[in-house]
Amino acid sequence: MTALKPDSLLVAAGRPRGVGQPLNVPLVPASNFVLGEGMVYARENGTPTWTALEDIVGALEGGSAVAFASGMAAVSAIFEQLPAAADVVLPADCYQGVSGLAEAGERQGRWRLRRLETDHTAAWIDAAGKADLLWVETPSNPLLMLADLAAIGAAPRKPGGLLVVDNTFATPLNQRPLARGADYSMHSTTKYFGGHSDLLGGLVAARDAQRHAALVRTRQVNGAVPGVLESYLAARGLRTLAVRLERAQENAQRLAEFLQDHPAVNGVRYPGLPSHPQHELATQQLGGHGAIISFEVADGDAADALCRATRLIHHATSLGSVESTMERRSANPGQEHLPAGLLRLSVGIEAVEDLLADLEQALG
Ligand SMILES: Cc1ncc(COP(=O)(O)O)c(C=O)c1O
Repeated sequence: MTALKPDSLLVAAGRPRGVGQPLNVPLVPASNFVLGEGMVYARENGTPTWTALEDIVGALEGGSAVAFASGMAAVSAIFEQLPAAADVVLPADCYQGVSGLAEAGERQGRWRLRRLETDHTAAWIDAAGKADLLWVETPSNPLLMLADLAAIGAAPRKPGGLLVVDNTFATPLNQRPLARGADYSMHSTTKYFGGHSDLLGGLVAARDAQRHAALVRTRQVNGAVPGVLESYLAARGLRTLAVRLERAQENAQRLAEFLQDHPAVNGVRYPGLPSHPQHELATQQLGGHGAIISFEVADGDAADALCRATRLIHHATSLGSVESTMERRSANPGQEHLPAGLLRLSVGIEAVEDLLADLEQALG
């Protein structure tokens, strides 16, 4: 399978082999299995439906994957790997659920937390030698800053220190962190993998067998197992990820260019725009510039008004789905520090002319 291109792997991996087998792994709603060889009890060693999802993503990421009940369950499982009083480094800009979990653990005395600007590469390289966990989110949510993965991944690490990349925004089609030296590449499968706003799920791909086994053990004891329907839907979503992402990225580039020139818009953050401060790194590091745009209008009221005025673009949280969604990020608890007029637009696969017309009428 490894000789196949990623677009083909998405379609070909994680299928049963053998005459008379269904082409797709079916929904197998099972907790326990007849004892003998193979599966025993779902929480211990999975079900065929979860395994299909894990096989697809493992093949794409170049590692072995473990699926969880949600992106945050996957994040928690990684933090569970830390020794007592660990030194944790997190980006200044990252998903608020991750910073919330890290801050809560610090308050409980479980670890010490430091925040670094995503683009401060020298500080990350320096931190690598001391930290038990470097948590990198690139591109970041919602400010779309990039971490230099090649430089950070190559930096000498403290023995046993973990480098983790939240790869949710990029997807394995745009970025493969394990090949850059990360130990874990983490996903909220709720987003691009599922792609249809109908599931919650999480997944971590591990570079080596030991790290993979450690996560499986955590899933066994903490019990944050994925649902069978959710795993089925995520695997089904992955089959079309390449075409969905290609279209969404093309749309996002056009929309970012439109927004950049609009008088009611004060600033646009999109890695595909030459005005992005890390456009060069984005072009070299990412297979594509992604389908998330953050842009600013005058203030919170103007942002709220825009969310109410769009007709095709939904006023909704989350991202990575076939339908375009937009929200004012500072309205979320833990995100009050963001500019009041900052909107995050997750660009879907609608006809770009309709999306442009919708933004034009709403901004007007
Ligand atoms: C970058 C990122 N990581 C992790 C998560 C958490 O995923 P979930 O909502 O599936 O728990 C999210 C959710 O928005 C996210 O955007």
